[in-house]
Amino acid sequence: MTALPTDIAACAFDAYGTLIDFNAAARRAPNLPGTQADALATLWRSRQLEYTWLRTLIGRYADFWHLTGEALDEAMAELGISNPALRAHLMELMLQPGAFPDAVEAVAAARRSGLRTAVLSNANAAMLASAIDGAGLRPHVDVLLSADTVGLYKPHPAVYRALCDRLDLEPPRILFVSGNDWDVAGAICFGLRGVWVNRNRRRPSRLAAMAMTELPSLTDLSTLLGSRS
Ligand code: LAC
Repeated sequence: MTALPTDIAACAFDAYGTLIDFNAAARRAPNLPGTQADALATLWRSRQLEYTWLRTLIGRYADFWHLTGEALDEAMAELGISNPALRAHLMELMLQPGAFPDAVEAVAAARRSGLRTAVLSNANAAMLASAIDGAGLRPHVDVLLSADTVGLYKPHPAVYRALCDRLDLEPPRILFVSGNDWDVAGAICFGLRGVWVNRNRRRPSRLAAMAMTELPSLTDLSTLLGSRS
């Protein structure tokens, strides 16, 4: 893609894996060697996502903070780590893991280009607000919306519908940006325009192939947004 669609009116970003660096919490934990931090972060994130999808499928919603804790318990148990102090510290770090270096500029660039800006996340309102504030993103975000408002998790269509309702826009007028391929696929299937930020140069999955475009970083999105203004 060489240009963004001209008829979009808002740019909505996913949070973790897109603006917020989920893995940073484990990296910043003291006494956790690098390789173990990476393994723990990967497993923690996998279990967290699995719980969101499974709870949505079986109709047993629990908020994201709660299941992030359950996912950490599971990941630590699987890796044979028994350390309540570390568990507590990791959860504290997860309240404000920090932004990817290209995140603030991308959201600011979206607004400069005349778009309304939003963050649509599975995180419950308090967790999301803490992460966004801690990352310095708040001044650039018009709408902060949590899946908690519908009691279902992305990629359920109801969550993307809540975004359209909140922005009062038809789906194709929203550009949805996510580092999670399944999230982009969900947004596109609902009718949003979708950009996949493939930060880790992963081989595109069949779901990722649905994305309108793939970019290696949010810096590339900022450049595209800059050419709009
Ligand atoms: C979110 C998940 C995808 O922020 O991490 O919605």
